[in-house]
Amino acid sequence: MPATKTTKARALELREQLNRHNHLYYIANQPELSDAEYDALMQELRGIEAEYPDLLSPDSPTQRVGAPPAPEFIEITHPVPLLSLSNVFGDDDLIAWHHRVSEFLEIDEFPMVCEVKIDGLAIALTYESGVLTRGATRGDGVTGEDVTANIRTIGSIPLRLQGGDFPQRLEVRGEIYFPKKAFDAFNEERVVEGLPPYMNPRNSASGSLRQLDSRETAKRPLDVWIYAIGWAEGGPIPQSHSGRLAAMSGWGFKVNPWTSTVATLDGVRTAYKKAIEERDGLDYLIDGMVIKVDDVGYQDRLGFVGREPRWATAYKFPPEQVSAILDEIRVSVGRTGALTPYAYFEEGVYVGGVVVHQASLHNEQDINRKKIAAGQRVIVQRAGDVIPQVVGPVPGQRDPPEYRLPEVCPVCEVPVFRDDDEAVVRCVNGRCPVQIQRLIEHFAGRGAMDIEGLGEKMAVLLFNEGLVLDVADIYRLKKEETQARLMEMEGLGELSVQKLLDGIEASKNQPLPKLLFGLGILHVGSEVSELLADRFGSLDEVMAATEEELISIEGIGPRIAASVRDWSQQEGNLEIVKRLIESDVNPRQERREPQDLPWTGLRFVVTGKLEAFSRPEAQARIKSLGGAVSSSVSGKTDYVVVGEEPGSKYDKAMRLEVAILDEAEFLNKLAETESVA
Ligand code: IVH
Repeated sequence: MPATKTTKARALELREQLNRHNHLYYIANQPELSDAEYDALMQELRGIEAEYPDLLSPDSPTQRVGAPPAPEFIEITHPVPLLSLSNVFGDDDLIAWHHRVSEFLEIDEFPMVCEVKIDGLAIALTYESGVLTRGATRGDGVTGEDVTANIRTIGSIPLRLQGGDFPQRLEVRGEIYFPKKAFDAFNEERVVEGLPPYMNPRNSASGSLRQLDSRETAKRPLDVWIYAIGWAEGGPIPQSHSGRLAAMSGWGFKVNPWTSTVATLDGVRTAYKKAIEERDGLDYLIDGMVIKVDDVGYQDRLGFVGREPRWATAYKFPPEQVSAILDEIRVSVGRTGALTPYAYFEEGVYVGGVVVHQASLHNEQDINRKKIAAGQRVIVQRAGDVIPQVVGPVPGQRDPPEYRLPEVCPVCEVPVFRDDDEAVVRCVNGRCPVQIQRLIEHFAGRGAMDIEGLGEKMAVLLFNEGLVLDVADIYRLKKEETQARLMEMEGLGELSVQKLLDGIEASKNQPLPKLLFGLGILHVGSEVSELLADRFGSLDEVMAATEEELISIEGIGPRIAASVRDWSQQEGNLEIVKRLIESDVNPRQERREPQDLPWTGLRFVVTGKLEAFSRPEAQARIKSLGGAVSSSVSGKTDYVVVGEEPGSKYDKAMRLEVAILDEAEFLNKLAETESVA
């Protein structure tokens, strides 16, 4: 039976009331109802919805309790990528950042907003016609995971916006966190139940949000601070960051009150001091202060460098330091064979909120320069998520003898190679077991082929069993043999072997950049892999690339080009690639020819003072169209852009007969090109 008009109206009224009281309770901190009164309203609404399921809607407050478990998270592509932030670590860095912005904009002062940098995990929330339709994790900034069901369980995230002046489609961004006090209580309970406590609030916020069963998330008291608008359509939004914060607060979002707008560097310094003083008293972890240029028009002009905006930066807190006796200097062998010394503390050191047993020591030279040795008291520091480091010895101790890395690889015992140019000591034995194991692990890791079930332990196991001796072997595993060997050795059941094989099969669909990254070519990280994939489109083509072709790619220099070329010329690697392709591990993608951008291949020099924009801004515009910018004029220069009082570069351009553009001509050329680009 359909619901009567009055029942419908009552459901609507209850929903509105519950949403309002929710906001009063979670965000305004001024509850007007007792818990019992709130529960009574909720009970009534649940009753109606149970009887008339067609009255149910996604923005109903009854929908916060969690949905049944999902088989997996769905990957989503962010319409506008989530960016990261550059860091400044002290006053000099801060001055330099301010100076760069000020040069770019050609103004001395500009308003800045100071906010605390919350140490949680980033989230993007989409609202359509004021109703929450999607919550997604940051992921790698471009793609994240759909965690809508989990997001709904967080009381301080509005399911429906307030007022009417919000854009029709809106994405806001913020940070999910586990409140500190609640975290301690939650951990105490876990210990009572005989479960291991969580490491820190940040990790457990992340773990809680990534539960496949949202009823589990609902049990954790997660909270949020909203700090930005990602994008908006259908309705105006304020053109200053501070205005946007105020608007978001008006729409019912939980916006952090610890915010100030300042005009000068002194204002930033005062805010920073205050943040350090108040840090411990806050019920959430912060690891610095974020400084943002307030004016959105300025932000747009400043733009980005890679994934980092020029218009914002994170002013990190000084890392926490403690002293401890260094028990031993140990040596690890990495994926590329590099021997790395590290500090080992038997008992563990409590620093930055966690107990650490290992701390980084950089390299041999650094150890000797700082006079660090086993048996001494040293200073250990840790900042946020960063790997703990040994800063140096506590002063006043006797100078120790010089430290020297071992002459043979600590794993395979083959003599090491000392590359004094690069200041590294490397095990160059291509068959060194650790290197192969690490490469298999890296290949199967999250940033690469992301093979479920193939972590460190499994990589070692498969290697030791002789089942996987290089990354191509992964795709030759046969169920029967693998199972027989692993069951015998480790008691692994059919199910876990099947899961591993399914994970391997699924990884064949990973895109080309992930595969290239997984191969572990020296100096080829995830960004370089993207560049290679874009230009060449397939593994074969990358292998066939000449050094010149490689260098011609924007973002790839001689060092990377040589490394890729070396790698693809080695017999063993050719063999691996051949076998990978035979096993159908051969992702392809459309090639993006360099001529995709209108000014690719053109070299510019900008000199003199321009009217319309600053020199860095002009250079950024050139680069955004694919042009290269150099600092000096040569025979290879295509255009010299000349402003007022150009000086010697102008003379040289005349002499070399390089095309000269005055500002008006340059502006015309820009406008013409940008209108077609
Ligand atoms: S703004 C360009 N504001 O820090 C805009 N981020 O290192 C970048 N974060 O992924 C985001 N508190 O998860 C911004 N008040 C705040 C923040 C904040 C924490 C996180 C955020 C981001 C990371 C960048």
